[in-house]
Amino acid sequence: MIDLRSDTVTLPTKEMKNAMQAAPLGDDVFVEDPSINALEEKVAAIFGMEKALFCPSGTMTNQIAIKVHVVPGDEVICSRESHVYCYEGGGIASNSGASVRLIEGASGLLTAAQIEANINSDDVHLPNTSLVSLENTSNRGGGVCYAFEEFYKIKDVCQKYGLALHLDGARVYNAIVKNKEDPKKYGAVFDSISVCLSKGLGAPVGSVLLGSNDFIKKARRVRKAFGGGMRQAGMLAAAASYALDNHVERLAIDHDNAQKVLKAGLSNQWVKGALPVETNIVVLLLKNEITNTEFLEKLKKKGILAVGFGPQRVRLTMHLDVSEADVITICEILLSL
Ligand SMILES: Cc1ncc(COP(=O)(O)O)c(C=O)c1O
Repeated sequence: MIDLRSDTVTLPTKEMKNAMQAAPLGDDVFVEDPSINALEEKVAAIFGMEKALFCPSGTMTNQIAIKVHVVPGDEVICSRESHVYCYEGGGIASNSGASVRLIEGASGLLTAAQIEANINSDDVHLPNTSLVSLENTSNRGGGVCYAFEEFYKIKDVCQKYGLALHLDGARVYNAIVKNKEDPKKYGAVFDSISVCLSKGLGAPVGSVLLGSNDFIKKARRVRKAFGGGMRQAGMLAAAASYALDNHVERLAIDHDNAQKVLKAGLSNQWVKGALPVETNIVVLLLKNEITNTEFLEKLKKKGILAVGFGPQRVRLTMHLDVSEADVITICEILLSL
């Protein structure tokens, strides 16, 4: 089976496993795991932020960030398509007691003007808007990226109204590689960033939350309360560190593969179009004659796993474990299905 359901399905490489085996370990709740401490320092330095916190998942890093930024009754501005809203189990409400102001952004991307228009005025009737959460790349938007200029405009709006600005950077490295961005630019704009190491970068587990010293001190307390203190988890940090050293530049291969798969997909008889493909995600739009389930079943019979992504939409995600030969096979299957 060629598994294109997500870039989370990658398995650690032999070299990554060697790095994991060699990792010095300690108790991370006591801040004594050398491998985790080293990873946190490394990621903070890459993004030019003061401090980092290693966590089990991107859901946890996002939810911790939101909880630190808001108080119950506040409102978070995010895209209707955002992971923090769609796929984190209602965590904004249950963990932080906050409401959401959902914005319909083109491909899940928000503009500064949209954000400014959705900030509540200082009126006791209204929830207090305190946080803007963005996602780069936009998963439900098909892996599309923000133009960095828009981040600067959004930051200006946040500063004008005293709002915190969080980035769900589950796939921020795809954007960084695609647009040749300096990660430090992100550190200069966002108050907090969640970076996933377990997606395109290929680590088995783990995300890092970035912010100021004060923010991460509070985040560490919330991580403990969420049950995310992981003790001797340095092996996971070593895998993540290996991924950062060895798997960043190769994301460009996934992006090229996505273009090849897009081209083949658009020639498929059941496909009427696709979302714009900028990075590693291909979302095909199906004709009305076929359902997602039927199309996915046809792919599965030929040895390809993908996922439904809303009505008449199927997502195919490129990643570390999709080889050149796999791409040829995928394209042949899409052309003949
Ligand atoms: C955009 C985005 N944010 C956050 C997450 C959450 O990551 P995790 O699965 O590690 O909780 C995902 C997972 O796919 C994602 O796509």
